Amino acid sequence: MMNAPSAPILPGATLGVLGGGQLGRMFSHAATRMGYHVAVLDPAESGPAADVSTHHIRCAYDDQQGLAELAALCDAVTTEFENVPAESLRFLQSRVSVSPDPQAVEVAQSRIREKSFFVDNGIPTNHHCLVSSVDQIADAFAQMSGRAVIKTTRLGYDGKGQQVCNDVAEMQSAFESFGAVECLVEDFVAFDAEVSVIIACDFAGNSAVFPLAENQHRNGILDLTIVPARVSDVVAQKAEHIARQVAGALNYVGVLAIEMFVTGDELLVNEIAPRPHNSGHYTMDATNYSQFDLQVLMMCGLPPVDITQHSPVVMLNVLGDLVLHDGFSWQPLLGRNDCRVHVYGKSSARHGRKMAHVNFVGNTVDLLLSEVADYRAGFPQAF
Ligand SMILES: Nc1ncnc2c1ncn2[C@@H]1O[C@H](COP(=O)(O)OP(=O)(O)OP(=O)(O)O)[C@@H](O)[C@H]1O
Ligand SMILES: [Mg+2]
Repeated sequence: MMNAPSAPILPGATLGVLGGGQLGRMFSHAATRMGYHVAVLDPAESGPAADVSTHHIRCAYDDQQGLAELAALCDAVTTEFENVPAESLRFLQSRVSVSPDPQAVEVAQSRIREKSFFVDNGIPTNHHCLVSSVDQIADAFAQMSGRAVIKTTRLGYDGKGQQVCNDVAEMQSAFESFGAVECLVEDFVAFDAEVSVIIACDFAGNSAVFPLAENQHRNGILDLTIVPARVSDVVAQKAEHIARQVAGALNYVGVLAIEMFVTGDELLVNEIAPRPHNSGHYTMDATNYSQFDLQVLMMCGLPPVDITQHSPVVMLNVLGDLVLHDGFSWQPLLGRNDCRVHVYGKSSARHGRKMAHVNFVGNTVDLLLSEVADYRAGFPQAF
């Protein structure tokens, strides 16, 4: 059940966000710039989003009293964290406008629901099956084409809770190491490239699509996003078509990310995220509106805008590994002509933890990639 705001929500109103990480922080920045107040619901004492927002309701995501407080404070609520219990979103929805719809969030929370959703709606995805006990692994592996990936059905992120396997024994031990929880087994895709589409949809069914992003991962974590993506027009058009199909089939409202594998001219959907996405951070410096601006507009019952890109961009993720590297300082990144740095304000750096991103903006992707390579060369152990 969609509960659109009865009239557009305008500056001066208060917007709520579930989750207090960097996505919430950038949402809060976008909303605040447009004149909204922001209330963050997050269990941590402080954090990237709470530090820059008007209100912080500090409680668990299933705390009814905290959720009621959020609903009372806000004119609309969204989420930055896809593992918020759908029940909490439903509770909020009975009191205040919520986007995206809990049902869409529920689909994205479970890899198996996500895959079934793709199959049921004719959205291309890679071959897969479900395993819930170790004796099912040999069978599952045999259905794949020699190399396969096992992924926990829930709570995976940044490559955690998944492993590429070349034989049955390897997959069995991976399954055990994940605690023998329900897992998805899928074909390993020898892709030429990975791409993602960020789409923003309003309550009336209008949508705006951001330019196709090309993504490179390192150790399962997004490393670089390159826009324009270096793929054929056919691939770019197919990707946009698939993104519209996914959003349409979900009756989606808000900002949605769709990750895909490209092999030749073929696309397979890997997964979706019911929120702004790391691969959309480039929009903060290279398009007329950012994905966070659109998250604000959509939840407020406003129409989407036409998105135009004004410069080629390469986004570099900054992980804890770089921040902890000998000789690292933020200072050289500040005030460079060719980039903008976005630091998330996390209290401590850890291996693999997302600390910041840098958007290199300029005339050509090739030039930007060489600037990124030059920058990285100073930190050989971090990459
Ligand atoms: N079936 C596959 N074949 C080849 N590579 C894969 C496959 N599944 C995942 N990968 C690689 O691992 C990366 C992370 O996988 P995936 O997006 O499924 O997991 P995640 O941990 O949920 O990531 P995210 O941080 O995007 O939420 C992918 O972007 C891709 O590079
Ligand atoms: Mg992913």
